Amino acid sequence: MTLSIYKKNKEDLNPKPDENRLGFGQYFSDHMFTMIYKDGGWQQGKIEPYGNFSLDPAAMVLHYGQAIFEGLKAYRGKDGKIHFFRPKDNLSRFNRSASRMCMPEIDVDEVYAGIRALVEIEQDWVPSAQGATLYIRPTMIATEPALGVRPSREYIFFVILSPVGAYYPEGFNPVKIFVTDKYVRAVRGGVGEAKTAGNYAASIMAAIEAQEQGFTQVLWLDACDRKSIEEVGTMNIFFVIGDELITPPLSGSILPGITRDSVLKITREWGLNVVERNITIDEVMAASLDGSLKEVFGSGTAAIISPVGSLHYKDQEIVVNGGQTGELSQKLFDDLQAIQFGYKEDKNGWVDLL
Ligand code: COI
Repeated sequence: MTLSIYKKNKEDLNPKPDENRLGFGQYFSDHMFTMIYKDGGWQQGKIEPYGNFSLDPAAMVLHYGQAIFEGLKAYRGKDGKIHFFRPKDNLSRFNRSASRMCMPEIDVDEVYAGIRALVEIEQDWVPSAQGATLYIRPTMIATEPALGVRPSREYIFFVILSPVGAYYPEGFNPVKIFVTDKYVRAVRGGVGEAKTAGNYAASIMAAIEAQEQGFTQVLWLDACDRKSIEEVGTMNIFFVIGDELITPPLSGSILPGITRDSVLKITREWGLNVVERNITIDEVMAASLDGSLKEVFGSGTAAIISPVGSLHYKDQEIVVNGGQTGELSQKLFDDLQAIQFGYKEDKNGWVDLL
């Protein structure tokens, strides 16, 4: 793909934020990648100054929510180079989301080339501070002005970049989780396995109610039985019970996390007893009572690994591993970061250098 590139003048570049106080998703780099879909095909991609879009008020995304996104990261490696982690896996998942939402697929290789060109231009935005990274957000929205409920015929695909620190204010520390059986995130047959905007909109009320009660996030249960565990906050979830590492299977309502997949591969390489199986909240509560519940943690691109310190379910509070980060959670967090930042051999070919 030939790209058109329009760069800002040097004197118009934004000042860089303090790398030690980035938070998550609060700052954006100077340029973005955009590409328009029209007349049945994608037009030439562009790198241009970051800025507002002009959208028709009838743009279909504003009415019927055809919007999908991805989240991946670029790391400032030990060698000073920029390391992308599993970028094409994220873009392939983007295409699976597109297909579920009746949106056009992108050419993974061409778009990845566009992302590499954008990050190269924005290389000074890839932070070097401990734990800080450049979060890359590819997104597609429906832009055709029309009010009939059908797939849009026009889209804009864009990629923006945000230097980020820890996802949760707690950083890599155990979080308090509220188990909701009042709200659900997704249902089998719905769009839970697609990374589509509406899934996140649907999660906000439960998260706010949990936060008002002093919790960081919610644990999501199956929409039908309200017992089988699905996800935690915006992440996949893992439990260590006895000698098993358990995560719910990809049943259709769960996002197929790239970090989930990395955790499964790494722990299988370590020879752990890893199972993808249905696990209910009752089993977890019972395992806490009999002492076999060892660890709980979330996995996602943003937080990588997020240890769970306690679970609150129906007026019962269970403390996991004395409220401390578990051994496996710590080991996985360290190992994944070591691969991502280039301190450890990347046996699986997950890291791509710029
Ligand atoms: C992740 O955990 O990687 C996410 O998808 C979070 C994102 C919605 C901010």
